[in-house]
Amino acid sequence: MTAMGFTIRPYHPSDLVELYRICLRTGASGEDASELYLDPDILGHYYAAPYAVGEPSLCFVLTNDGRPCGYILGTRDSKTFVDWCEHHWFPPLRERYPLPPVDDVSPDARMMRLIHAGYHPPEGLTEFPAHLHIDILPEGQGQGWGRALVQTFLKQLRALDVPAVHLGVGTRNHRAIQFYERVGFHKVQEHQEWIAFGMHLA
Ligand SMILES: CC(C)(COP(=O)(O)OP(=O)(O)OC[C@H]1O[C@@H](n2cnc3c(N)ncnc32)[C@H](O)[C@@H]1OP(=O)(O)O)[C@@H](O)C(=O)NCCC(=O)NCCS
Repeated sequence: MTAMGFTIRPYHPSDLVELYRICLRTGASGEDASELYLDPDILGHYYAAPYAVGEPSLCFVLTNDGRPCGYILGTRDSKTFVDWCEHHWFPPLRERYPLPPVDDVSPDARMMRLIHAGYHPPEGLTEFPAHLHIDILPEGQGQGWGRALVQTFLKQLRALDVPAVHLGVGTRNHRAIQFYERVGFHKVQEHQEWIAFGMHLA
């Protein structure tokens, strides 16, 4: 799939550092979070890298003239992913990032607490075993590449006989909320801070 230098291709291990960068540059409700975090890797440790490392066949990269500028990644089974992260992903990160003091309310401290808490698949979503994250740098947005990444990901899930997929989006990320509705997801849960979207794949 190519147009004006943009291409979607499967993840390659050399992309990992760019995945961290894209995660940070889209990590503030879709906007650049570089100024919010002292540690530029801490968002990617939680929201991007474990998926690419643990389930690389479900990671696809949007490139612009060969350079990664977006991704979609996720897991076919959230429960199995939680177990994998507990055994293979979080232990060294928990040593590297000790729990911060309770009065530290910085964004970095919030992420450190998430690393210690681990993943907890949201209750009530067991009928949607897969989940995903998608992030595109501004240069690739608004040209249909988000839709194309979702279609690529869903095709792979269908090939794996996955029945349904969910995702979470912050209530402040209005652009992403409209995007998910346009590409066929429906609201499954509404919380104060975030919305769960789902899609059945049969
Ligand atoms: C959200 C995001 C993935 C959307 O990808 P995109 O490539 O910009 O979206 P597309 O161009 O593929 O748009 C697909 C559809 O969504 C709609 N859409 C996208 N952005 C929209 C917006 N701001 N308002 C209304 N509709 C929007 C498009 O109109 C299009 O609908 P159509 O095909 O029926 O015309 C991308 O903008 C992004 O990565 N943003 C920053 C990171 C982020 O917020 N990630 C999600 C975190 S939960």
